[in-house]
Amino acid sequence: MNLLLINGPNLNLVGKREPSIYGAQTLDDIQKDLLITAKELDVKLKFFQSNSEGQMIDCIQKCVGSTDGILINAGAYTHTSIALRDALLGVAIPYVEIHLSNIYTREEFRQKSFLADKAMGLVCGFGPISYELALRGIVSQLIKD
Ligand code: DQA
Repeated sequence: MNLLLINGPNLNLVGKREPSIYGAQTLDDIQKDLLITAKELDVKLKFFQSNSEGQMIDCIQKCVGSTDGILINAGAYTHTSIALRDALLGVAIPYVEIHLSNIYTREEFRQKSFLADKAMGLVCGFGPISYELALRGIVSQLIKD
């Protein structure tokens, strides 16, 4: 099984950025830990991060034929991007939405997701463990299909 984790804008700053909300672990730390889980689950996991909506869309479009599932923390684009939603629906690859923070306890503008209603699942609020839970979740669902 081939999976891709996409991180959107400002997630490259995790570890330094608002640590009281997003924690002290860097994206690199999170991804290293995820590779351990991926090995345990016997799946291949690749990573992509971009601050650009267009690059994220290009990356999603390139997944066709090579990726069984997408894990995505779209950062602030979660709350704004119909284009990302269209890209994910366009490639018809199952995806799980991830957030470090619990977006439903934060500002009202973060409580709207353009991705959630079409996602296989959504994990938020557990810091870096959100990523691990999402990985375990998507693998268990895809194995069933
Ligand atoms: C985030 C939540 C978003 O609202 C925010 O814009 C981010 C990070 C999270 O992981 O908690 O950049 O996606």
